[in-house]
Amino acid sequence: MEREKIRELISQMTLEEKAGLCSGLDFWRTKGVERLGIPSVMVTDGPHGLRKQDGEGDHLGINVSIKAVCFPAGCATASSFDRELVTKLGETIGEECQAENVSTILGPAMNIKRSPLCGRNFEYYSEDPLVSTEMAAALVHGVQSKNVGTSPKHFMANNQEYHRLTSSSEMDERTMREIYLSSFEGMVKKEKPWTIMNSYNKLNGTYLCENREMLTDVLRKEWGFDGYVMTDWGAMNDRVESLKAGCNLEMPASGGETDGEIVAAIKNGTLEESVLDACCEEFLNIVFRYEENRDREAVFNLEKDHETARRIEEECIVLLKNEDELLPLTADKKAAFIGKYAAAPRYQGGGSSHINSFKVESAMNAVEAFDYIKKENITYAQGFDDAADQADETLVREAVDAAKNADVAVIFAGLPDNFESEGYDRKHMRMPDCQNALIEAVAEVQPNTVVVLHNGAPVEMPWIDKVKAVLEAYLGGQAVGGATVNVLYGAVNPSGRLAETFPLRVQDTPCYLNYGGEHEKSVYSEGVFVGYRYYTSKDMEVLFPFGHGLTYTEFSYNGLTVSSERIKESETLAVSVDVTNTGSRAGKEVVQLYVAPRGGTIIRPLRELRAFEKIELAAGETKKVTFILDKRAFAYWSTEIHDWHVESGEYEVQIAKNAQDVVLSTAVYVESGTIIPKVFTLNSTIGEIMADPKGRTILEQSMGAMMGAEGQQMAEEAQEGDGVINDEMMAATMEAMPLRQLASFVPGVTRKALEPLIQALNS
Ligand code: BGC
Repeated sequence: MEREKIRELISQMTLEEKAGLCSGLDFWRTKGVERLGIPSVMVTDGPHGLRKQDGEGDHLGINVSIKAVCFPAGCATASSFDRELVTKLGETIGEECQAENVSTILGPAMNIKRSPLCGRNFEYYSEDPLVSTEMAAALVHGVQSKNVGTSPKHFMANNQEYHRLTSSSEMDERTMREIYLSSFEGMVKKEKPWTIMNSYNKLNGTYLCENREMLTDVLRKEWGFDGYVMTDWGAMNDRVESLKAGCNLEMPASGGETDGEIVAAIKNGTLEESVLDACCEEFLNIVFRYEENRDREAVFNLEKDHETARRIEEECIVLLKNEDELLPLTADKKAAFIGKYAAAPRYQGGGSSHINSFKVESAMNAVEAFDYIKKENITYAQGFDDAADQADETLVREAVDAAKNADVAVIFAGLPDNFESEGYDRKHMRMPDCQNALIEAVAEVQPNTVVVLHNGAPVEMPWIDKVKAVLEAYLGGQAVGGATVNVLYGAVNPSGRLAETFPLRVQDTPCYLNYGGEHEKSVYSEGVFVGYRYYTSKDMEVLFPFGHGLTYTEFSYNGLTVSSERIKESETLAVSVDVTNTGSRAGKEVVQLYVAPRGGTIIRPLRELRAFEKIELAAGETKKVTFILDKRAFAYWSTEIHDWHVESGEYEVQIAKNAQDVVLSTAVYVESGTIIPKVFTLNSTIGEIMADPKGRTILEQSMGAMMGAEGQQMAEEAQEGDGVINDEMMAATMEAMPLRQLASFVPGVTRKALEPLIQALNS
């Protein structure tokens, strides 16, 4: 509907009707105004499938929802690094929404994985903002192409479950911009989501629902968001303040209470009616966008979407380890499938994203169903009981026997439901003792042991050196069993890459000492050093680095070229590299480009992912991949100018297999286009002044004049020296010396005499 018409509608509404639009009708529906033809529309969780509750609603996944398809969770889909695939997922969900008359799906969930302990990491994409924003953009694109809205969430800095309704995420401006806002920025600018869900928590003391800087200044004014903001369920704090800040819709229903507060505020003059009008306009624009583009022909085909769920998961599974090329298995090998998850996989997480799957395909189901598997060669042993942490000796013994009698043991392990969920954080990064013990016992008798993991976040692997292969299936959706079997037997060549680091132990994680916080404050003191930005900068050993993933083929890289060795920040840089599949079967590679500053005055991560592309190569095939980098690839957020800034200097452009394994690299010089104005004072150091081209000239000229003969002589003597103070020490001392100290040490120099110098520096 045209804006003009929407405004016309608003002008016909009573104050009460307008205020009524600002909160939900019930748990899942917005309010309509029947007399004016304004419909009530439904929103539904998300993000990896439809949780449409026809009956009683709740936000914890307790009451039943309609039978639907559970697709792989965000932890898995991010590992695909495949934009097209995630768009396909979005299109499928969008179509399901149209068929079920759902106006908006509540997702993608896209908070940064600050710590592997966050209970909700299984829903989120990555520790890296580029991967997060690109994957989210791909999903939003797919869903919205079906004329259904998305609600990327939870905006923002909702990186822990602990006290998520009251805790304040405390961070500095640069960390916020480079990591936590960046995760949303690209997606918003590129795809204009129809809605955004603000998070429960506070940011530096202000609840997100009433954070004007975030909801209006950044989201709308800077990034061009033109949809409506809704609260997370029950996140509303102060209704009137939040309306002023830019939060349109409170969800779920408020029983009319907060609508009344809006009306009262307008009547008593503390809220302008125009603010309410603008809020209604933004909201109705989206409501009608859905209503006027209904696809009444859309169908929700469960079986077809189940197949899609399997195909997606096949692209997400990450082959973490494959010694002696144990995988892929051949059908004539006798394999013992061990572990409860072989028969009843853990494939989704708990909480609001919980889907009522119409069916679940386990690995054992796939063994039965897939023609190429010789069923007589596969045995099954339960191995562990999900409900218990302690190993069950009988189950272990059965598993060990099965392993002994086979050529290979495949253990389906991971995390039980209660180990990770929305609502609370994990206390540690371990798998249950019963599973670790089972893996050790099986590996003891069977040298050919494979572990398949079903988990939403990294786990410690104390047995890693005792098993030959590890497949990370993540929470792979309801078809995870079929996808896993296809990867195990090579019907699919694994192509997933880790979108997060697997640290060796939880104590190694960057926010280990602060995570969760105290007194309702969670201080992000690790700053921009999140995930691999921390581990690589500290040159730390990890279990598996960000970006890691093996395949059943090999890729080589050659011919890295850049369009220029020197660019201005306003120019773009084309980077090309040839990738060859040197193995004997088709496969997919994720080409990763990192940028590493070679110096500069700013404390920055060693390298940062700036571009990636997933490509498919037939055996022997070579493809050229070209990336276009712009200013942002070299920039950091400057708190002096409150903007992105590039320091003039050399940067390495690196092509890497993962965050720790650089295969090709070349340097470019990038010239800044912005001079950050400096104000010099008596406390400015000689180093600071000398680093400034103008400052250097002025200082050198005036020092000579001020020092006079006596000072000159002293400087020369200091240079000749007696060997006690060498040149290096002298240079370091001078570099750090504030101007005012010259007056104490250099004959002829006085504070008064320094004044014109400072004036000249600042002119
Ligand atoms: C979750 C949201 C979800 C909402 C509705 C909240 O508890 O944080 O992600 O969309 O409930 O179920």
